[in-house]
Amino acid sequence: MLLWGDKNGDFYSKKVQVMTGVTPGREEALSLLQKYNKSEGLIKHALAVEAVMRYCARKRGRDEEKWGVIGLVHDLDYEQFPEQHCRKTEEILTSENWPAEYIRAVVSHGWGICSDVEPQSELEKVLYTVDELTGLVLATALVRPSKSVLDMKVKSVKKKWKEKSFAAGVNRDVIQKGAGMLGVELGELIGDVIMGMREVADEIGLKGNVDVSA
Ligand SMILES: [Fe+2]
Ligand SMILES: [Fe+2]
Repeated sequence: MLLWGDKNGDFYSKKVQVMTGVTPGREEALSLLQKYNKSEGLIKHALAVEAVMRYCARKRGRDEEKWGVIGLVHDLDYEQFPEQHCRKTEEILTSENWPAEYIRAVVSHGWGICSDVEPQSELEKVLYTVDELTGLVLATALVRPSKSVLDMKVKSVKKKWKEKSFAAGVNRDVIQKGAGMLGVELGELIGDVIMGMREVADEIGLKGNVDVSA
């Protein structure tokens, strides 16, 4: 069927998607992220969390696309509306007709800080935990001689975990609480975060001087 406005039917399928709230894909999530965020740091953080969510979904046999998309937009409002963090994202995603499950997951990452939505699903608990952990892995990578996540070991991050003054902005209580909810050891979670971040090391500026061809 040939439809007005687009001979390939793209316009029509987009319209149907908007009207019915069909699962948002990565392209849509990325364009929203770029619309609301100009800060390189925030975009790299979003890409890091997305990659870790994808890694964890794969490891747990879950829907990688869903986990990745939610990771990508979890801090959507932070650059422009830091005082309304989570609440503003809820507003934006609702107006974009995103599914309630996605919106709930995004909002729950701020549980106890800027939202009262407690992480309940496996996806929500993982997001809540790895969000802060990506910050600790990033900070640890930057003080290493290689400045890389590619040759990083779990024990390097664990060492930095114990130094409370190191990357003091990383909320260790949140990570601990999340690990408890998931029933997973901190070391395993750190390993997952490293593995996920390795997959986008170049995009997030953590390839450092490690020669991957060697
Ligand atoms: Fe956040
Ligand atoms: Fe975040």
